[in-house]
Amino acid sequence: SMSRIRKAVFPVAGLGTRFLPATKTVPKEMLPIVDRPLIQYAVDEAVEAGCDTLIFVTNRYKHAVADYFDKAYELEQKLEKSGKTEQLELVRNVLPPHVRAVFVTQAEALGLGHAVLCAKPIVGNEPFAVLLPDDLIWNRGDGALKQMADAAEDSGASVIAVQDVPREQTSSYGIVATDGFAGRSARIRAIVEKPKPEVAPSNLAVVGRYVLDGRIFELLEKTTPGAGGEIQLTDAIAALLTEQAVHAYRFQGTRFDCGTHLGLIEATIRYALDHEKLSDAARGMMQNALSELGVVDLD
Ligand code: G1P
Repeated sequence: SMSRIRKAVFPVAGLGTRFLPATKTVPKEMLPIVDRPLIQYAVDEAVEAGCDTLIFVTNRYKHAVADYFDKAYELEQKLEKSGKTEQLELVRNVLPPHVRAVFVTQAEALGLGHAVLCAKPIVGNEPFAVLLPDDLIWNRGDGALKQMADAAEDSGASVIAVQDVPREQTSSYGIVATDGFAGRSARIRAIVEKPKPEVAPSNLAVVGRYVLDGRIFELLEKTTPGAGGEIQLTDAIAALLTEQAVHAYRFQGTRFDCGTHLGLIEATIRYALDHEKLSDAARGMMQNALSELGVVDLD
Protein backbone atom coordinates (compact mmCIF):
# COMPACT_ATOMS: atom_id res chain seq x y z
CA SER A 1 0.00 0.00 0.00
CA MET A 2 1.05 3.58 -0.50
CA SER A 3 1.89 5.77 2.48
CA ARG A 4 0.49 9.28 2.75
CA ILE A 5 2.35 11.78 0.57
CA ARG A 6 4.38 14.43 2.44
CA LYS A 7 6.32 16.04 -0.38
CA ALA A 8 5.12 18.04 -3.37
CA VAL A 9 7.14 19.09 -6.42
CA PHE A 10 6.31 22.29 -8.31
CA PRO A 11 8.05 22.60 -11.68
CA VAL A 12 8.30 26.36 -12.15
CA ALA A 13 11.27 26.71 -14.48
CA GLY A 14 9.36 27.46 -17.69
CA LEU A 15 9.96 30.69 -19.59
CA GLY A 16 6.29 31.72 -19.80
CA THR A 17 6.75 33.04 -23.33
CA ARG A 18 2.97 33.02 -23.95
CA PHE A 19 2.58 35.83 -21.45
CA LEU A 20 5.28 38.16 -22.74
CA PRO A 21 5.76 41.02 -22.13
CA ALA A 22 4.33 40.47 -18.59
CA THR A 23 6.71 37.54 -18.03
CA LYS A 24 9.72 39.56 -19.11
CA THR A 25 10.26 40.34 -15.42
CA VAL A 26 7.59 38.32 -13.56
CA PRO A 27 7.50 34.50 -13.72
CA LYS A 28 4.12 33.28 -14.95
CA GLU A 29 3.55 31.49 -11.63
CA MET A 30 3.46 34.93 -10.00
CA LEU A 31 0.61 36.21 -12.17
CA PRO A 32 -2.36 36.88 -9.88
CA ILE A 33 -5.85 35.43 -9.96
CA VAL A 34 -7.84 38.08 -8.04
CA ASP A 35 -5.74 38.34 -4.86
CA ARG A 36 -3.12 35.59 -4.96
CA PRO A 37 -0.42 34.48 -7.38
CA LEU A 38 -1.02 31.21 -9.26
CA ILE A 39 1.70 29.43 -7.27
CA GLN A 40 -0.15 30.18 -4.01
CA TYR A 41 -3.23 28.27 -5.18
CA ALA A 42 -1.12 25.19 -6.01
CA VAL A 43 0.74 25.44 -2.68
CA ASP A 44 -2.51 25.70 -0.71
CA GLU A 45 -3.82 22.62 -2.51
CA ALA A 46 -0.67 20.63 -1.64
CA VAL A 47 -0.76 21.71 2.02
CA GLU A 48 -4.46 20.80 2.24
CA ALA A 49 -3.57 17.34 0.87
CA GLY A 50 -1.12 16.87 3.78
CA CYS A 51 2.21 17.91 2.26
CA ASP A 52 4.74 19.59 4.56
CA THR A 53 7.75 19.76 2.23
CA LEU A 54 7.36 21.79 -0.93
CA ILE A 55 10.04 21.49 -3.58
CA PHE A 56 10.22 24.21 -6.19
CA VAL A 57 12.20 23.38 -9.31
CA THR A 58 13.20 26.77 -10.68
CA ASN A 59 15.65 28.22 -13.18
CA ARG A 60 18.33 30.63 -12.16
CA TYR A 61 16.24 33.67 -13.12
CA LYS A 62 13.29 32.87 -10.89
CA HIS A 63 14.23 34.70 -7.71
CA ALA A 64 10.69 36.04 -7.49
CA VAL A 65 9.26 32.64 -6.52
CA ALA A 66 11.91 32.09 -3.83
CA ASP A 67 11.51 35.66 -2.57
CA TYR A 68 7.76 35.17 -2.35
CA PHE A 69 8.10 32.24 0.06
CA ASP A 70 10.97 33.81 1.98
CA LYS A 71 10.52 36.01 5.04
CA ALA A 72 10.12 39.70 4.11
CA TYR A 73 11.73 41.44 7.10
CA GLU A 74 11.50 45.07 6.00
CA LEU A 75 7.94 44.73 4.74
CA GLU A 76 6.80 42.94 7.91
CA GLN A 77 8.42 45.61 10.11
CA LYS A 78 6.72 48.40 8.20
CA LEU A 79 3.31 46.75 8.36
CA GLU A 80 3.78 46.05 12.06
CA LYS A 81 4.78 49.65 12.85
CA SER A 82 1.82 51.07 10.97
CA GLY A 83 -0.58 48.63 12.66
CA LYS A 84 -1.65 46.92 9.42
CA THR A 85 -2.27 43.60 11.12
CA GLU A 86 -4.53 42.13 8.44
CA GLN A 87 -1.94 42.70 5.71
CA LEU A 88 0.82 41.50 8.02
CA GLU A 89 -0.99 38.18 8.45
CA LEU A 90 -1.38 37.85 4.66
CA VAL A 91 2.35 38.37 4.16
CA ARG A 92 3.32 35.98 6.96
CA ASN A 93 0.90 33.22 6.07
CA VAL A 94 1.98 32.33 2.52
CA LEU A 95 3.18 29.10 4.16
CA PRO A 96 1.83 27.63 7.40
CA PRO A 97 4.49 27.25 10.15
CA HIS A 98 4.82 23.46 9.81
CA VAL A 99 5.60 23.64 6.07
CA ARG A 100 9.07 24.12 4.60
CA ALA A 101 10.03 25.23 1.13
CA VAL A 102 13.06 23.83 -0.71
CA PHE A 103 14.46 25.23 -3.94
CA VAL A 104 16.22 23.22 -6.61
CA THR A 105 17.64 24.67 -9.79
CA GLN A 106 17.07 23.02 -13.14
CA ALA A 107 20.19 24.09 -14.99
CA GLU A 108 18.85 23.34 -18.48
CA ALA A 109 15.25 23.34 -19.76
CA LEU A 110 15.16 19.68 -20.83
CA GLY A 111 11.47 19.02 -20.19
CA LEU A 112 8.93 18.32 -17.45
CA GLY A 113 10.33 14.84 -16.74
CA HIS A 114 13.79 16.30 -16.25
CA ALA A 115 12.42 19.01 -13.96
CA VAL A 116 10.77 16.37 -11.75
CA LEU A 117 13.99 14.33 -11.73
CA CYS A 118 15.83 17.37 -10.31
CA ALA A 119 13.78 16.85 -7.10
CA LYS A 120 15.03 13.27 -6.60
CA PRO A 121 17.72 14.10 -3.97
CA ILE A 122 15.08 15.75 -1.79
CA VAL A 123 12.16 13.37 -2.32
CA GLY A 124 14.14 10.13 -2.06
CA ASN A 125 12.28 6.86 -2.50
CA GLU A 126 8.81 7.74 -1.27
CA PRO A 127 5.51 8.60 -2.91
CA PHE A 128 5.14 12.29 -3.71
CA ALA A 129 2.98 14.77 -5.59
CA VAL A 130 3.66 16.85 -8.68
CA LEU A 131 1.55 19.97 -9.24
CA LEU A 132 1.71 22.10 -12.38
CA PRO A 133 0.63 25.57 -11.19
CA ASP A 134 -0.67 26.49 -14.69
CA ASP A 135 -3.52 24.09 -14.08
CA LEU A 136 -5.70 25.84 -11.53
CA ILE A 137 -8.45 23.66 -10.10
CA TRP A 138 -11.44 25.32 -8.48
CA ASN A 139 -13.62 23.26 -6.16
CA ARG A 140 -15.94 24.02 -3.24
CA GLY A 141 -15.13 20.74 -1.46
CA ASP A 142 -11.79 18.94 -1.08
CA GLY A 143 -9.05 20.11 -3.42
CA ALA A 144 -8.10 17.87 -6.35
CA LEU A 145 -4.79 16.74 -4.81
CA LYS A 146 -6.43 15.80 -1.49
CA GLN A 147 -8.98 13.71 -3.39
CA MET A 148 -6.12 11.99 -5.24
CA ALA A 149 -3.94 11.46 -2.14
CA ASP A 150 -6.93 9.82 -0.41
CA ALA A 151 -7.47 7.57 -3.46
CA ALA A 152 -3.76 6.66 -3.59
CA GLU A 153 -3.74 5.79 0.08
CA ASP A 154 -6.79 3.53 -0.39
CA SER A 155 -5.66 1.76 -3.57
CA GLY A 156 -1.88 1.77 -3.13
CA ALA A 157 -1.52 2.86 -6.75
CA SER A 158 -0.02 6.00 -8.26
CA VAL A 159 -2.80 8.41 -9.28
CA ILE A 160 -2.95 10.84 -12.19
CA ALA A 161 -5.64 13.50 -12.66
CA VAL A 162 -7.61 13.31 -15.91
CA GLN A 163 -10.49 15.03 -17.64
CA ASP A 164 -12.25 14.67 -20.97
CA VAL A 165 -11.16 17.13 -23.64
CA PRO A 166 -12.47 17.70 -27.17
CA ARG A 167 -10.82 15.25 -29.56
CA GLU A 168 -9.22 18.06 -31.59
CA GLN A 169 -7.21 19.08 -28.49
CA THR A 170 -5.44 15.78 -27.77
CA SER A 171 -2.16 17.11 -29.12
CA SER A 172 -1.94 19.55 -26.19
CA TYR A 173 -2.01 16.83 -23.50
CA GLY A 174 -0.86 13.51 -22.21
CA ILE A 175 -3.65 11.09 -23.22
CA VAL A 176 -4.52 7.85 -21.41
CA ALA A 177 -6.26 4.59 -22.31
CA THR A 178 -7.90 2.95 -19.29
CA ASP A 179 -9.91 -0.03 -18.09
CA GLY A 180 -13.48 0.73 -17.04
CA PHE A 181 -14.03 3.30 -14.29
CA ALA A 182 -15.11 2.26 -10.79
CA GLY A 183 -16.31 5.56 -9.34
CA ARG A 184 -13.68 8.18 -10.17
CA SER A 185 -10.78 5.74 -10.76
CA ALA A 186 -9.66 3.45 -13.55
CA ARG A 187 -6.43 1.58 -14.16
CA ILE A 188 -4.32 3.12 -16.92
CA ARG A 189 -3.25 0.72 -19.68
CA ALA A 190 -1.41 3.19 -21.92
CA ILE A 191 -0.32 6.82 -21.82
CA VAL A 192 1.09 8.90 -24.66
CA GLU A 193 2.30 12.50 -24.77
CA LYS A 194 0.53 14.92 -27.11
CA PRO A 195 -0.83 12.49 -29.75
CA LYS A 196 -2.54 13.86 -32.86
CA PRO A 197 -6.35 13.39 -32.73
CA GLU A 198 -6.22 10.62 -35.40
CA VAL A 199 -3.92 8.43 -33.29
CA ALA A 200 -4.99 9.39 -29.74
CA PRO A 201 -6.12 6.30 -27.76
CA SER A 202 -9.00 8.33 -26.20
CA ASN A 203 -9.92 11.90 -25.39
CA LEU A 204 -9.10 11.48 -21.69
CA ALA A 205 -6.37 14.01 -20.93
CA VAL A 206 -3.83 14.31 -18.12
CA VAL A 207 -4.25 17.39 -15.95
CA GLY A 208 -1.27 18.71 -13.97
CA ARG A 209 -1.71 16.77 -10.70
CA TYR A 210 0.13 13.53 -10.03
CA VAL A 211 0.67 11.23 -7.03
CA LEU A 212 3.64 9.07 -7.96
CA ASP A 213 5.57 6.16 -6.52
CA GLY A 214 9.27 7.01 -5.87
CA ARG A 215 10.21 4.41 -8.47
CA ILE A 216 9.43 7.05 -11.12
CA PHE A 217 12.85 8.66 -10.51
CA GLU A 218 14.79 5.58 -11.64
CA LEU A 219 12.56 5.39 -14.71
CA LEU A 220 13.08 9.10 -15.42
CA GLU A 221 16.84 8.56 -15.33
CA LYS A 222 16.43 6.10 -18.20
CA THR A 223 13.96 8.23 -20.17
CA THR A 224 15.28 9.60 -23.45
CA PRO A 225 13.91 12.73 -25.17
CA GLY A 226 10.37 12.22 -26.53
CA ALA A 227 7.68 14.57 -27.83
CA GLY A 228 9.15 17.99 -28.66
CA GLY A 229 12.66 16.66 -27.99
CA GLU A 230 11.98 16.91 -24.24
CA ILE A 231 12.35 14.39 -21.41
CA GLN A 232 8.69 13.71 -20.74
CA LEU A 233 7.13 12.72 -17.42
CA THR A 234 4.48 10.93 -19.51
CA ASP A 235 7.11 8.55 -20.97
CA ALA A 236 8.39 7.58 -17.51
CA ILE A 237 4.78 6.98 -16.40
CA ALA A 238 4.36 4.71 -19.45
CA ALA A 239 7.30 2.66 -18.12
CA LEU A 240 5.92 2.72 -14.54
CA LEU A 241 2.58 1.23 -15.56
CA THR A 242 4.26 -1.86 -16.99
CA GLU A 243 5.57 -2.55 -13.45
CA GLN A 244 2.78 -1.44 -11.10
CA ALA A 245 -0.78 -0.09 -11.01
CA VAL A 246 -1.25 3.54 -12.06
CA HIS A 247 -4.77 4.96 -11.84
CA ALA A 248 -6.47 7.75 -13.76
CA TYR A 249 -8.64 9.87 -11.47
CA ARG A 250 -11.55 12.04 -12.58
CA PHE A 251 -11.29 14.68 -9.86
CA GLN A 252 -14.19 16.79 -8.70
CA GLY A 253 -13.64 20.45 -9.63
CA THR A 254 -13.20 22.79 -12.58
CA ARG A 255 -9.78 23.11 -14.16
CA PHE A 256 -8.60 26.35 -15.75
CA ASP A 257 -5.66 26.25 -18.12
CA CYS A 258 -3.82 29.33 -16.87
CA GLY A 259 -1.06 28.66 -19.36
CA THR A 260 -3.28 30.41 -21.92
CA HIS A 261 -4.71 33.93 -22.04
CA LEU A 262 -8.31 32.73 -22.12
CA GLY A 263 -7.80 30.27 -19.28
CA LEU A 264 -6.32 33.00 -17.10
CA ILE A 265 -9.26 35.29 -17.88
CA GLU A 266 -11.79 32.53 -17.20
CA ALA A 267 -10.16 31.71 -13.86
CA THR A 268 -10.14 35.40 -12.90
CA ILE A 269 -13.87 35.65 -13.63
CA ARG A 270 -14.67 32.48 -11.69
CA TYR A 271 -12.64 33.40 -8.60
CA ALA A 272 -14.00 36.96 -8.62
CA LEU A 273 -17.61 35.73 -8.84
CA ASP A 274 -16.92 33.23 -6.03
CA HIS A 275 -15.01 35.68 -3.79
CA GLU A 276 -16.64 36.34 -0.43
CA LYS A 277 -16.06 40.12 -0.55
CA LEU A 278 -15.85 40.89 -4.26
CA SER A 279 -18.59 38.70 -5.71
CA ASP A 280 -21.46 41.22 -5.91
CA ALA A 281 -19.29 44.02 -7.27
CA ALA A 282 -17.69 41.68 -9.79
CA ARG A 283 -21.08 40.53 -11.05
CA GLY A 284 -22.18 44.15 -11.52
CA MET A 285 -18.99 45.00 -13.38
CA MET A 286 -19.43 42.10 -15.74
CA GLN A 287 -23.02 43.12 -16.48
CA ASN A 288 -21.86 46.70 -17.15
CA ALA A 289 -19.09 45.54 -19.42
CA LEU A 290 -21.44 43.31 -21.42
CA SER A 291 -24.08 45.99 -21.80
CA GLU A 292 -21.66 48.81 -22.65
CA LEU A 293 -20.08 46.65 -25.29
CA GLY A 294 -23.56 45.92 -26.67
CA VAL A 295 -23.23 42.19 -26.09
CA VAL A 296 -26.45 42.01 -24.07
CA ASP A 297 -29.42 44.31 -24.11
CA LEU A 298 -30.38 45.38 -20.58
CA ASP A 299 -33.41 47.66 -21.09
C1 G1P B 1 2.18 18.84 -19.41
C2 G1P B 1 2.27 17.33 -19.58
C3 G1P B 1 1.01 16.80 -20.25
C4 G1P B 1 -0.22 17.24 -19.46
C5 G1P B 1 -0.22 18.76 -19.28
C6 G1P B 1 -1.35 19.18 -18.35
O1 G1P B 1 2.21 19.42 -20.70
O2 G1P B 1 3.43 17.01 -20.33
O3 G1P B 1 1.06 15.40 -20.31
O4 G1P B 1 -1.40 16.82 -20.11
O5 G1P B 1 1.01 19.23 -18.71
O6 G1P B 1 -1.44 20.57 -18.25
P1 G1P B 1 2.49 21.01 -20.93
O7 G1P B 1 1.16 21.68 -20.74
O8 G1P B 1 3.50 21.42 -19.91
O9 G1P B 1 2.98 21.12 -22.34
